[in-house]
Amino acid sequence: MGSGKSETARELAHVLGRRFLDCDALAVAAAGRSIPEIFEIEGEVGFRRRESEILAEVLASTEPSVVATGGGVVTTAEGRARLAGAVVCWLRVQPEVLAARVSDGSGRPLLAGAESDEALIARLRGLAAERDRWYGEVADIVLDADELSVHGAAAALATRLSRVRGPMIGEGGLEDRGGEPESDGADRAEGTGPARIRVGLGQRSYDVLVGPGVRRLLAAELAAALPTTPRRVAVVTSDGIGVDADVGGAVGTTETFTVPAGERSKSLATVEDLCRGFARFGLTRGDAVVAVGGGLVTDTAGFAAAVYHRGVPVVFIPTTLLGQIDAAIGGKTGVNLPEGKNLVGAFWQPSLVLCDSEVLATLPAAEYRSGLGEMAKYHFLAGDGSGPGDAAAMAALPLEGRIARCVALKAEIVASDERESGRRMLLNYGHTLAHALEIAGGFGLRHGEAVAVGLVYAAEVARRLGRIDGDRVAEHRQVVSAYGLSASLPEGIEAGELIDLFGRDKKAVGGLTLVLDGPRGPEPVRGVDRFVLAEALEAIR
Ligand SMILES: NC(=O)c1ccc[n+]([C@@H]2O[C@H](COP(=O)([O-])OP(=O)(O)OC[C@H]3O[C@@H](n4cnc5c(N)ncnc54)[C@H](O)[C@@H]3O)[C@@H](O)[C@H]2O)c1
Repeated sequence: MGSGKSETARELAHVLGRRFLDCDALAVAAAGRSIPEIFEIEGEVGFRRRESEILAEVLASTEPSVVATGGGVVTTAEGRARLAGAVVCWLRVQPEVLAARVSDGSGRPLLAGAESDEALIARLRGLAAERDRWYGEVADIVLDADELSVHGAAAALATRLSRVRGPMIGEGGLEDRGGEPESDGADRAEGTGPARIRVGLGQRSYDVLVGPGVRRLLAAELAAALPTTPRRVAVVTSDGIGVDADVGGAVGTTETFTVPAGERSKSLATVEDLCRGFARFGLTRGDAVVAVGGGLVTDTAGFAAAVYHRGVPVVFIPTTLLGQIDAAIGGKTGVNLPEGKNLVGAFWQPSLVLCDSEVLATLPAAEYRSGLGEMAKYHFLAGDGSGPGDAAAMAALPLEGRIARCVALKAEIVASDERESGRRMLLNYGHTLAHALEIAGGFGLRHGEAVAVGLVYAAEVARRLGRIDGDRVAEHRQVVSAYGLSASLPEGIEAGELIDLFGRDKKAVGGLTLVLDGPRGPEPVRGVDRFVLAEALEAIR
C-alpha cells in the first residue's frame, strides 16, 4: 500500500516488453464501484474474494504479464496459494516512508480515519506486523524500495528477475522458457555469472563484462586486462554518480578526479584540468585511468587518457544505460567545442569495460528513457548482418540479456569497422532525424528519446522507397512504444527546417546519407528524394 507497486509494475512491464495488469483496477472495473465502495457494501471479505478471483483469472492467461496485486492478497491462504504459481516481487517500504506517500490514506479503506501522521504510521506498522511474514513467505525477490524511484525500482527488479533461474513471469504468471533463455550472443561460464563479450580488434581487443555487481571485479580483471599492474590509478568520475571503483591492494595509489556534471564540462578545458591533475599525481604510461560515469565521463576521461603521455590505458565503468550499450563501447572518445558536439576526439579503445546493471537502479528516469531509445535501435540491428534484425528475439530477453546483446552487436560492428569508414554507420540508425531535432533545439527530448522518433521516421522513409512493408513499420512503432517512448514529432516543428538540418549532420559525408531498413537489414542509402523525406515526416506527426 503506497509502495508504488502499480507504477513500478507498469514500468517493469515496459522494460520487459510485457502486458501490464493491475488487480485493483480490474476489481473496480468488474464491480463498477470504487474500492472504498466495495469495502462498504461487501466488506473486506467480499473484496478479498473478488481479488482472489481476479488473480486466478490473470494467472491463468498465457500472455506474458507483469501484474500489480492488491497488497492484502497475502492475507488469505487462497491468495497465497495462487501466488505460489508466479514469480513474486515484494517492494518493501518502511511505514514512515509509506505514511509520507499515502498522506491522508484516502481511497484506502484500511487506512481511513487515521487522523494524524502518528496514527497513520501506527496503522501502517500494524499492517506490516500482520503481513510482512506472509510477504516474506511468498516473495521470490525482496526489494527495499524506500529510496528508489519508480524507474529505479523497475530497473532493479528487471535485473533481479534476470537472475531468477527457471521460469519467468508469463504463462499463468509463469512463462516456461523451455529451459534455455534466448541467446544474447555473450559467453557465460555454465550459464551463470556475468556475460563476457570480446571486442575483437587485434592488439586493441578487450573484454566487456555485463551483469549485476561486475564493478566489484575491477581489481581482478584489471590485472588480466593490463600488461603490468599499474602503480597508480586515476579514477575519473562526476558529481552525483556515487559508484565506487575498488582497484584492490595490488595498485600502489589511487586518486579520484571529479568532473562537474553536465554536457558543458565535456570540453577541452576539462581535459586540460584532468591531464594537469594526472601529471601532479605522477601518472605514467604504465599506469591506468578508470572512468566511472555516463557518456560524459567516459568520453572526456577516455580522450584525456588518449592524449596524456600520448596514451595511457583506460578502463570504463559506465553507469548509465546509454553508456553501457553505446558510449563506453567502440573507442570513440572526445569533447565538444562551442562550434559543435564531439568535434575534437580520438579513437582510443578501452582495455576493459564493466557494465554493472546494479548501478542503473539510481539512474534518473529521464536518463534511463534515453538509454531505452538507443536500446530500441539495436532491435533492428539484431541479426547476423545478412537480413533484418530479429526484434522479437531481442524483446524476449531480460534487461541484462538485452544489455549484453546490444554490447555484442556493437562489438561485432566495431570489430568490422573500427574507424567508421563503412559498416559502423549502421549504429547511426534513427540518428539523422534525432540529430536534426537536437540541433533545432532539442524540444526537451533526451538523445535516446529523439532516436526513438528517428527510428520510426527512418522506417516510414524506407516504406515509401519500397524497402520494407507496413508490417515492418508497425514493428518499429511497437518496439518504441513497448519502451514507453513516443514515436511522434514534437509539436511546432517545421518539416523544411528539419530536412535542411539533415544535411548539416557532421556524418553526412558527400551528401545526405540515411541508414534505412531493407530486405538485408539497415544499410546506408544515398540521395533520398526531399518529397519522400517530407511525406514521411507528416506520417510521424
Ligand atoms: N563515445 C560514444 O560512442 C558515444 C555514444 C553515445 C553517446 N556519447 C556521449 O555520451 C554523452 C551522454 O551520456 P549519458 O547519456 O550517459 O549522460 P551523462 O553522462 O551526461 O549522464 C547523465 C546524468 O546521469 C547522471 N548519472 C550517471 N550515472 C548515474 C547513476 N548510476 N546514478 C545516478 N545518476 C547517474 C549523471 O551525473 C548525469 O547527470 C554525450 O556527451 C554523448 O555525446 C558518446
